[in-house]
Amino acid sequence: MSDIKQYIEQNKQRFLDELFALLRIPSISADSAFAGDVAKAADFVAESMRAAGADKVEVCKTPGHPIVYGEKIIDPSLPTVLVYGHYDVQPAVPLELWDTPPFEPTIKKTELHPEGAIYARGSADDKGQFYMHVKAFEYMMKNNALPCNIKMMIEGEEEVGSNNLADFCIANKERLKADVVLISDTSIIANDCPSIDTGLRGLSYVEVEITGPNRDLHSGVYGGAVANPINILAKMIASMHDENNHITIPGFYDKVAELTAAEREDLNKAPFDLDVYKKDLNVGDVWGEKGYTVLERTGIRPTLDVNGIWGGYIGEGAKTVLPSKAFAKISMRLVPHQVSDEITELFKKHFESIAPAGVKVEVRPHHGGEPVVTPTDSVAYRAASKAMETTFGKTPVPTRGGGSIPIVAMFEKELGLKSVLMGFGLDSDALHSPNEHYGIVNYLKGIETIPYFFKYYAEGSK
Ligand code: BES
Ligand code: MN
Ligand code: MN
Repeated sequence: MSDIKQYIEQNKQRFLDELFALLRIPSISADSAFAGDVAKAADFVAESMRAAGADKVEVCKTPGHPIVYGEKIIDPSLPTVLVYGHYDVQPAVPLELWDTPPFEPTIKKTELHPEGAIYARGSADDKGQFYMHVKAFEYMMKNNALPCNIKMMIEGEEEVGSNNLADFCIANKERLKADVVLISDTSIIANDCPSIDTGLRGLSYVEVEITGPNRDLHSGVYGGAVANPINILAKMIASMHDENNHITIPGFYDKVAELTAAEREDLNKAPFDLDVYKKDLNVGDVWGEKGYTVLERTGIRPTLDVNGIWGGYIGEGAKTVLPSKAFAKISMRLVPHQVSDEITELFKKHFESIAPAGVKVEVRPHHGGEPVVTPTDSVAYRAASKAMETTFGKTPVPTRGGGSIPIVAMFEKELGLKSVLMGFGLDSDALHSPNEHYGIVNYLKGIETIPYFFKYYAEGSK
């Protein structure tokens, strides 16, 4: 395994070139105008798996975007690692906020990435991260260093809720049989402070529509006498946090697992610099639920956030109009043991109940996902920890990720598999934002670390 560093040094430029080619494909799963590009990206992934030495590579059709599968079974009696990732990306809009075009990868140096970062949509989430696995696999194949079986499943609908993945897993239970799932789609604390996520939040996502009068009205002729749906919506949304920034939906916290004082203390041991955090975001202060630290607010506490809000006149100049409708998209991040469908239902009931008689309310649920906690006392976690320790020179800190990967809970439910979340990006890499980037060092460090995971996992499983 000592030659992995050398292999990376020799192939570094090609590893970058290949990733760049993948990043140039705008595989935006949310926008049907890009369906052809999503399909192109799937073919690219399949081709890269084949080139790296995978067998039975297949671009599997689904009612939505395809799932790419490939495997290498060296000995059925050995353990099997199922690698999961996603080749779809978030929309790149608003394009004018990007300093360089989102699908023309560009290397730039930054304070956190002095050796350069790759700027492109999907660079960190998740193309740059799952492609590390393809390259690590290539290395293991070329150097006779694959110590156990590997299966790779890279999907194209993660950013839109993985709607077809559960059915695919249920229909392919035999093919997907494995001992553990390995995922690189999360962050580390810093490049000199590796960490492993041991939990992810769940998600409830709804769209609300408030209808007032049956048509847009003159805001002078009718204003003051008819409920304005935008005013009402703003008030309803504002009422959903109290003065302690506690969410006011009845029953919302009923199933929230409260951590013990010792667990909270552990969680807060992870290095965190409030000043750096504020400076990075250019905010005067942080905000959140009273009585909890930032790490707790993003790791172990649920949230309610408006993701978008619209209605009325937003064109140039002023138009005096009392709009007929107002809309918002609202997400709730969930923690163990909240249940997505239940929270969506609680939201709907509450939201309808607080609407005044002057308006009608419609709540439309979108995709959701369940929260998870992953074990730290497993062979796989220890293998990941040891692998990172080998390449970073430091034992990774267990942390809780604030984002959601709904399929992690699904893998547990449908396939009985636990996951290890060994990500290599940084939270500040602007995932889902303009100017998303991924450190070149992070990309190469991932390729270096993954073969060690396989080595230690295979050894630990004996
Ligand atoms: N990779 C992210 C999730 C993530 C990022 C977890 C950083 C932990 C740290 C994933 O691609 C994602 O964005 N998930 C969505 C959920 C999905 C249902 C759209 C999310 O968290 O918003
Ligand atoms: Mn992702
Ligand atoms: Mn994402």
